[in-house]
Amino acid sequence: MEQRLRRSDDQEPDEASDLSYDLISPAIRQQRKIIGEPLLVFDLVDSTNTVAHRLADEGYPEGTVVIANRQTAGRGRHGRIWFSPPNRNIYMSVILKPPLDSRKATLLTLMAAVACCQAVRNLAGIDASIKWPNDIVVGARKCGGILTETRPAAGSVQCAILGIGINVNMDEDDLDEFLSRDATSLKIETLRAWDRSAVAVRAIGDLDRWYLSLLDGGAERIRSEWRNLSSTIGKLVSVSGVAGAAVGIAADIDDFGYLVLSMPDGSTRRASAGDISQFRTVGETS
Ligand code: BTN
Repeated sequence: MEQRLRRSDDQEPDEASDLSYDLISPAIRQQRKIIGEPLLVFDLVDSTNTVAHRLADEGYPEGTVVIANRQTAGRGRHGRIWFSPPNRNIYMSVILKPPLDSRKATLLTLMAAVACCQAVRNLAGIDASIKWPNDIVVGARKCGGILTETRPAAGSVQCAILGIGINVNMDEDDLDEFLSRDATSLKIETLRAWDRSAVAVRAIGDLDRWYLSLLDGGAERIRSEWRNLSSTIGKLVSVSGVAGAAVGIAADIDDFGYLVLSMPDGSTRRASAGDISQFRTVGETS
């Protein structure tokens, strides 16, 4: 059921789509160090993360990028469905094989959130921020999300699939009553359509740069930029997990990328992204 759009070895151009291998590939080839090649652009997949897992099993290298025009089974965190209307948004997954302690796998998600947030801010000029740990938001509405799926082996991250969804050209009409409260897109925020290939090129470039920084011992740079872009730090938040619900001030993120909560009794608590099933800033109604 997967239908591939152009690769360099295909003959038929796909002029109907603004998401094109031929537009993306030359642009990222100029700038990439690790992320962006091989590049596979599909019309239809179930989930780009599922395809990327399969390609990793087949031996595709670190840096492989899978992009699709449509997903029939896009998935979000905590088993949620990722709304994936065709011809509108970016659905992308990257194969990474970082020499990273598996306890620090959350840093990959923070790194991707920083890269994608910067990409949409710089390209579209919107005031996007990061809501813990991985939501790219404009105000209270989400315009992007990241799903990192790791395969830990002997204490290190053997292989990680970084799944990225960026809402680019969705209109209000694409959203039902529930989603229109929670979701937005670059087009909704800027009142103009965006070339999805250009958005993909920018996101891949920023991912490449921040991933290199992470490999180069730049975890602190990532944490620092994450704090700058965060709309969570300093807020009163509610986190519920296996150890029960906790309400405290989001004070910082630690070396492992965990959220550090400052509790009313003066103690601190740490929450990993996996612990969080509910997260609200005070004043939000949803
Ligand atoms: C979230 O819950 O915020 C994470 C959403 C991640 C969605 C992207 S779309 C591309 C990739 N393929 C998927 O099935 N999910 C991720």
